Amino acid sequence: MREVFGTRPWRRAEDPAAVISISNFKGGVGKSTTAIHLAQYLAIQGYRVCLIDCDSQATTTMMFGYVPDIDLGERDTLYGYIHDMPPGGLRSFVRKTHFYNLDLVPANLKLYNLEYEIAGYIMQNQSFDVIDSIAHAVETIVDDYDVIILDPPPALGMISLGVLTAANALVIPMPPSIIDFSSTASFLDMLNSTMKQMEMAYRKRPVYNFVKIVGSKADEGKSMHREILGMTSKLFGRYMLNSVLRNSAEIDNASSRMKTVYELERPVTSHEVHSRCLTSLNAVNYEIEQEILKTWSGRGSDF
Ligand SMILES: Nc1ncnc2c1ncn2[C@@H]1O[C@H](COP(=O)(O)OP(=O)(O)O)[C@@H](O)[C@H]1O
Ligand SMILES: [Mg+2]
Repeated sequence: MREVFGTRPWRRAEDPAAVISISNFKGGVGKSTTAIHLAQYLAIQGYRVCLIDCDSQATTTMMFGYVPDIDLGERDTLYGYIHDMPPGGLRSFVRKTHFYNLDLVPANLKLYNLEYEIAGYIMQNQSFDVIDSIAHAVETIVDDYDVIILDPPPALGMISLGVLTAANALVIPMPPSIIDFSSTASFLDMLNSTMKQMEMAYRKRPVYNFVKIVGSKADEGKSMHREILGMTSKLFGRYMLNSVLRNSAEIDNASSRMKTVYELERPVTSHEVHSRCLTSLNAVNYEIEQEILKTWSGRGSDF
């Protein structure tokens, strides 16, 4: 219908596709949850979206109905692309999903091998070029999409470095606890020094169109969470999203059914909990959508 009415929100060819990495080197902070709900939200809005699972734990891949180490071959992931560098680029690794407008490059355990293979290559060749291979992979499909979302592993290893180099925007989920706050602070610190080192070794560093920290798994009923969110929004200022992703039983329940909240036909919990959760997800995703639109010329926030 959008096509018929001419209201497809696709970017113009001269505008850059948003390549967003959902990063934080801690596990369990809500990276994959944020990545998949953002991808589905944008697909529902009519954007052409590709989600690339870069984590060998393959949570995101499983959410699309795959048993990663049974349904997928060793080379069906970024691992196969980087190993074989097929002439068709990453396109032959992209799979359609049950979600209209949303494609997936899956992951499985074999992807972990890239960590030491890339490290070995760098040692042997004394060259960091290989770090760019994820960026090259993205370049081969970028024309097909408005938004590419990268779900990296929870470590600042070789794959994460490659993902940070490939991205042109960062979203950093951070639960409002002191431990997650301090680990996010060290993530930002390490990110900064790694980027500086890369710039020295290699004379370039990634440029991000936006960097946004998002409070994740936030329970506004907890005074400690409110306090930490207040502190972090003062500290990070405009780098912090105004909306937070609430901690919700609905997300937990949906994910234990291998579904996202957008895929549930009816609330698993109660209507109230479900709609509160949807409101929170939509608010976070809407803000990120606005950040994407700002990077496309002539596209106001009212589009
Ligand atoms: N906002 C939330 N409310 C409730 N549970 C959540 C929320 N975000 C994530 N979770 C749960 O926390 C666990 C870890 O989340 P995940 O997105 O896989 O983290 P990561 O990718 O950072 O390791 C999952 O079981 C997920 O369902
Ligand atoms: Mg994950």
